Amino acid sequence: MMNKVLLIGAGGREHAIANALKKSGAKIYAVMKNKNPGIARLAEEYIIGDHNSVSYVKNLDWVKFKKVDFAFIGPEAPLINGMADMLDESGIPVVGPKKNAAIIEGSKEFMRDLMKKHGIDGLVDYYVFTNSKKVEKFLIDYKKPFVVKPVGVTGGKGVWVMGDHFKTKEEGIKYAKKVIEENIGGERKVIIEEKLSGEEFTLQVFTDGRNIKGMPLVQDFKRAYERDKGPNTGGMGSYSMENHLLPFMDEKDYAKAMKILEDIIAAMRREGRTYKGVLYGQFMLTAEGPKVIEINCRFGDPEAMNVLSILDTNLLDISWEIIEGHLREKVLFKDLATVVKYIVPAGYGTANVNKGTEIRVNEKKIEQEGAIVYYASVNDENGRIYTTTSRSLAVVGLGKNLNLAEQIAERALSHVSGKIYARHDIAKADMIKKKIEKMNAIKINRR
Ligand code: AMP
Ligand code: GLY
Repeated sequence: MMNKVLLIGAGGREHAIANALKKSGAKIYAVMKNKNPGIARLAEEYIIGDHNSVSYVKNLDWVKFKKVDFAFIGPEAPLINGMADMLDESGIPVVGPKKNAAIIEGSKEFMRDLMKKHGIDGLVDYYVFTNSKKVEKFLIDYKKPFVVKPVGVTGGKGVWVMGDHFKTKEEGIKYAKKVIEENIGGERKVIIEEKLSGEEFTLQVFTDGRNIKGMPLVQDFKRAYERDKGPNTGGMGSYSMENHLLPFMDEKDYAKAMKILEDIIAAMRREGRTYKGVLYGQFMLTAEGPKVIEINCRFGDPEAMNVLSILDTNLLDISWEIIEGHLREKVLFKDLATVVKYIVPAGYGTANVNKGTEIRVNEKKIEQEGAIVYYASVNDENGRIYTTTSRSLAVVGLGKNLNLAEQIAERALSHVSGKIYARHDIAKADMIKKKIEKMNAIKINRR
């Protein structure tokens, strides 16, 4: 059986991948930068080391002596750095794109230019600058509300939205210049985009470069505090519904978003950049339908935990089908709603994070509530769990509908203690109601 899997990454997303692979009969060999107790427990063997470093992984015995059958790469950094290329050259096939395809996330300019060149729907107005005087001049005359983004990767944290992260045009100009001058994102380039309004959603797909299988829609919450206040984070939680749509979306909206991802994957193939792995689309549902906010080269985190917790098809089989280029007819998900709530150290998202403090997790009780726990950026020291500066662990409530799943997630949270913080508002009934009302008022064109 070809079932030895090298798993790269240490977060909640990778714990969820490990769980799904293990359930499918895989043997896991994990590389992770912190000791994630969930992954450690599922793995045959694990190594604590820099999972983002291509040269580090290249020199591991598992790779040098081909002791694994394939690799599953969780985070974007190693993919953007060319880890899939290195592993493939070492004789280890990979679920995850090569460097020339991972650029879809690595460069927001590449992604926008690809959509423009191939006439793909869902493109926003965008303008790229490398000169701080030019961006200033452009913005002085620009009439619409706008968003300022570094071209390179900043984990969603470098993006400034007018009315949200800054109020006046002058503040926006100042930040746009700073992105170039201080090299934020590492490319000395800034993208200015028109500001979209609507509701955001995530659509993730499996693809072998040609065949594409869509997953349930998920809505992610990036802002640190309740009512979507505070700094942007990697994501504080997320939910999905039993019908695999969202409360403000129908099947037509889903089909439009799928078509955009299909067109992107086809365009990548035409460009000689065949994309294999998981492709992640972050969209804004606007009055004109779905528009692309960003495209990522991997599962979302937290969104991976929503979809993998209800995946009913063997992930080991899916992985081989992606590698071999014959992704099968059906990838199935249970008809359950899911609510993910991340637990983070108190002060997360600010300069004063409660790092290195102990968190107590009553896993038995969480399980009894009907929830799942996925560990993230914590360190396990002799069975005790300590925070880092990043997200600590997540609970996932599963239920017949969103309300039930949310209640289960909340009960699960009560079995975790320490100097921690979580957003209790995610997926609560009144929040969902407001979203539906907002989107009803927008009157989406569904022709
Ligand atoms: P990104 O890293 O590109 O996903 O941006 C982070 C967050 O900024 C997104 O999740 C959105 O909430 C917001 N954002 C990005 N681009 C736009 C846009 N063109 N219009 C409105 N909001 C945006
Ligand atoms: N949750 C957002 C991301 O994974 O990019």
